[in-house]
Amino acid sequence: MYSYSEFDEQFVRERVSQFRAQVERRIDGSLTEDEFKPLRLMNGLYLQLHAYMLRVAIPYGTLNPHQMRQLAMIAEKWDKGYGHFTTRQNIQYNWPKLKDVPDILDALADVEMHAIQTSGNTIRNVTADHFAGAAADEIADPRPVAELLRQWSTDHPEFQFLPRKFKIAITGSPNDRAVTKAHDIGLRMVRNDAGDEGFEVIVGGGLGRTPMIGKVVREFLPKADLLPYVEAIVSVWNLLGRRDNKYKARIKITVHEHGIDEIRRLVEERFEEIRPQFSGVDQELLAGLEQAFAAPDLQEASLAAFESAYTNDAMFRAFADTNVVDHKVPGYGIVSISLKAHGATPGDASADQMRVMADLAERYGHSELRISHEQNVILPHVHKSDIPAVHAALKEAGLATANIGLISDIIACPGMDYCALATARSIPIAQEIATRIDELKIEHEVGHMKIKISGCINACGHHHVGHIGILGLDRAGVENYQITLGGDGTETASIGERAGPGFPAEEVVPAIERIIKAYLDVREGEDETFLMAYRRLGPAPFKAALYPESKEQADAA
Ligand code: HEM
Ligand code: SF4
Repeated sequence: MYSYSEFDEQFVRERVSQFRAQVERRIDGSLTEDEFKPLRLMNGLYLQLHAYMLRVAIPYGTLNPHQMRQLAMIAEKWDKGYGHFTTRQNIQYNWPKLKDVPDILDALADVEMHAIQTSGNTIRNVTADHFAGAAADEIADPRPVAELLRQWSTDHPEFQFLPRKFKIAITGSPNDRAVTKAHDIGLRMVRNDAGDEGFEVIVGGGLGRTPMIGKVVREFLPKADLLPYVEAIVSVWNLLGRRDNKYKARIKITVHEHGIDEIRRLVEERFEEIRPQFSGVDQELLAGLEQAFAAPDLQEASLAAFESAYTNDAMFRAFADTNVVDHKVPGYGIVSISLKAHGATPGDASADQMRVMADLAERYGHSELRISHEQNVILPHVHKSDIPAVHAALKEAGLATANIGLISDIIACPGMDYCALATARSIPIAQEIATRIDELKIEHEVGHMKIKISGCINACGHHHVGHIGILGLDRAGVENYQITLGGDGTETASIGERAGPGFPAEEVVPAIERIIKAYLDVREGEDETFLMAYRRLGPAPFKAALYPESKEQADAA
């Protein structure tokens, strides 16, 4: 993992002390809330529905146990004993008191963490594949590059007042676990015919009120050109971006309005101009970062304990089948810990649970933890013979739910329970669906299915790229939920299509049940996932299941 340099340490500490003075001035009344707002947003502090909310970056989702314990301590000492892991590899504290925030930021700085650029019109936390450095399908670990981008973008003088926020995601694997096609810039590591590593560069993806899948601006960018090329993209958009209209300011609109060919021309032109300024310092830095992210020394060991538990313990088998995937080193597994116990708030972890996960990472996981964009926690390097012990400890902490990638592994934004922009609730809908699915005991039979829920059009819950998406809206003072079908956030990304009229809250669970039943009826076997069936058949059988009355009316007509 990357460790802070003296410069990083000093930089972060200085920001905390500046912010401490600003908070004091807000508390003694010398700053109004309006004057304070831009200052707090520069430090990740929002004003939610009921309280301030602090968003802390977990760059490319990587944490060590020491950092996780500090997050637990903060949750206990200054919040209500839990934290919320988000779709952008951040953790949010929902109840900090303003006077405590500088102390929280200092506590974060003690473990090399901060909340800088987690809001505002800047380049936000750079996100990455949560299996980075461990995945069997990976070309290379994308995190050194993600760290390079983080260092370059943090407080970059040219990019502090962009037209709008800017999100970069990066994957080193052909199987995209970072939703690169729904980001302002998505980077997919590829090899060219000569076998050299480089990137496919995608721009202009994004969700929110105008969802768009990103377009390829460069098919192969040599690795050494990455920083100047990304800088070229951001600076072209910085000039062209629509500052006149907040809703048209994201790069996806710029790409849409000018066309990808014109954007490519401008980016390439700018790239040629600035390329010589990057005299190789970035590549020296990158070489150092590659060292810092070197894989741990993974020793071979007997698989007997794993095999015996797998044969004799059905609960363990379900966990191993669903929550463990193969590591690039034979004998090792990547363990996903679900923060989606049926009926729980998706993404929430208590301080005790955070400590359990930290202990397990330390004892069995080479001291690494990852936060996934799907609001779960990963132990990336666990020898399979240790997984039974990990599972037993997780069970005790209420963290052993075997549902990764299944129906109840739902992404949900905070919705009306916390968010000032919400038009409907998200968390209770997710809880009700998961509880019902648990009663029916069907999720293993149904298999891979992703449900994603947002409480307003901003799409923080990624509903557009859910196989089943749920969007909560306000219809004349009544919460109404629109369902989209066929979305996908992976390398085969697509935006879900609206199925038809929305449903009131109490009808959402039965509607989802009807879609699931329709899928089970039409699938060509267990290997055909919901998404595959949807792509083969189109929306008709699912719409018919969702709106049986209109089918009856059509039949009667
Ligand atoms: C204080 C609470 C929050 C506020 C005020 C907020 C605000 C917004 C807004 C205004 C957008 C639309 C951006 C646009 O189209 O330009 C957005 C999008 C988004 N937010 Fe949030 N959000 C909040 C919480 C969250 C949380 C908790 C998560 C993760 C669970 C999250 C993740 C995202 C993501 C992934 C998008 C995606 C759309 C995209 O940029 O392509 N946000 N948010
Ligand atoms: S989707 Fe809307 S309701 Fe949900 S967190 Fe984002 S802004 Fe809030």
